[in-house]
Amino acid sequence: MIKGTKWLSAPFLDLLKLCTASARPSFNYLQNRFSAENESEEVRSAAIKRLLEVFGMDDPPSIHGHKQPPQYMLDLYNTVADVDGVTKDPNLLEGNTVRSFFDKMRSEQVEFSFNLSTVAKTEKILTAELHLFKMRPQAALTFNRHHFCQVSVYQLLDTIKTNNTQEKKLLSSRLIPVHTSGWEVFTITQAVRSWMVDEGSNLGLHVVVRTLGGSQMDMKLIRFASGRNNHQSKQPMLVLFTDDGRRSTTLESTGLSSRGTRSLDSSEEEGVSMPCQRLPLYVDFEEIGWSGWIVSPRGYNAYHCKGSCPFPLGQNMRPTNHATVQSIINALKLIKGVETPCCVPDKLFSINLLYFDDDENVVLKQYNDMVAGSCGCH
Ligand SMILES: *[C@@H]1O[C@H](CO)[C@@H](O)[C@H](O)[C@H]1NC(C)=O
Ligand SMILES: *[C@@H]1O[C@H](CO)[C@@H](O)[C@H](O)[C@H]1NC(C)=O
Ligand SMILES: *[C@@H]1O[C@H](CO)[C@@H](O)[C@H](O)[C@H]1NC(C)=O
Repeated sequence: MIKGTKWLSAPFLDLLKLCTASARPSFNYLQNRFSAENESEEVRSAAIKRLLEVFGMDDPPSIHGHKQPPQYMLDLYNTVADVDGVTKDPNLLEGNTVRSFFDKMRSEQVEFSFNLSTVAKTEKILTAELHLFKMRPQAALTFNRHHFCQVSVYQLLDTIKTNNTQEKKLLSSRLIPVHTSGWEVFTITQAVRSWMVDEGSNLGLHVVVRTLGGSQMDMKLIRFASGRNNHQSKQPMLVLFTDDGRRSTTLESTGLSSRGTRSLDSSEEEGVSMPCQRLPLYVDFEEIGWSGWIVSPRGYNAYHCKGSCPFPLGQNMRPTNHATVQSIINALKLIKGVETPCCVPDKLFSINLLYFDDDENVVLKQYNDMVAGSCGCH
């Protein structure tokens, strides 16, 4: 299970001790426990629980056996994140979450249903897409007078509930070449929004293929891969782009809240005066015991800020005006109890996590303010 404590060792402790001492009560709690140098299992599990909360979860998802994430989600992850999971371009995704769902109906018919119970009610649905893999027509049927077909996706309605004679509602319709194979994507945002309002109304989707003349097409000619008969990599999929509304504490508050009770700088303790700088801090998901449900990255470098901020503060220390004044007051010893400024992250980057949720759906989520981009005296 949880092996070493490298991720909770020296650099991580310094982080807690130096400049975030008053940031959060739970960190204070951890700090006190650690300062007693009692690395009990209890403390470790409390720390890991707190880290899970940072990632927006109560409990680690339990995954049974080895699962292969959808290629689409792997490609999406590699588009938005670099090898360490750091966001390449914050404007690529509109929201901060992308969820994928496999079809639960696995019907012989062209009907699909997706269980969206893992989507929080508070999540804002931005776009929903049905991804279907169109297979090549069987060889015997390739010589056919039809070159295009009209593919329409309908939302199945409950006629009793809506007191309506209408059994289905058109969501999306498009012309598709008969002889090609590959992924076809249909926008079904309306339907998913209505399912989020009333879970019971989720009866699934129905796909109808017609000739250009409007008559029903031979379904041997137009075939979509199903979860039942085809390889997992071609399974019908729902892809949901959402935003969970989580915007972590801004840089401003991170810097400010840390000032209050500041303990001795560890470099002072050690008798070395290392100027404020950014040092590595690798968070290894395998060591924490999370490699079962996190697909990517294996870990990431959060970095940490360490060092002293003595008078005079050069521009390389990236001081705020406030920090400059504080360091002067400290140097002149004009007022008792005014410490030198604090060495803290002054630029933070987001990271991306590709993981399996409780229902073993693959989710991509962006977390703000996870990597210290640079450090400064504040
Ligand atoms: C600290 O660890 C010792 C054993 O090393 C244990 O007896 C004690 O209960 C622990 N204290 C706390 C507060 O967990
Ligand atoms: C959806 O999934 C959840 C959790 O796996 C389950 O409790 C629920 O019964 C499912 N709903 C349907 C309609 O299958
Ligand atoms: C359903 O519609 C019919 C006629 O359109 C109406 O007479 C009936 O009261 C409606 N029932 C409900 C439950 O709204």
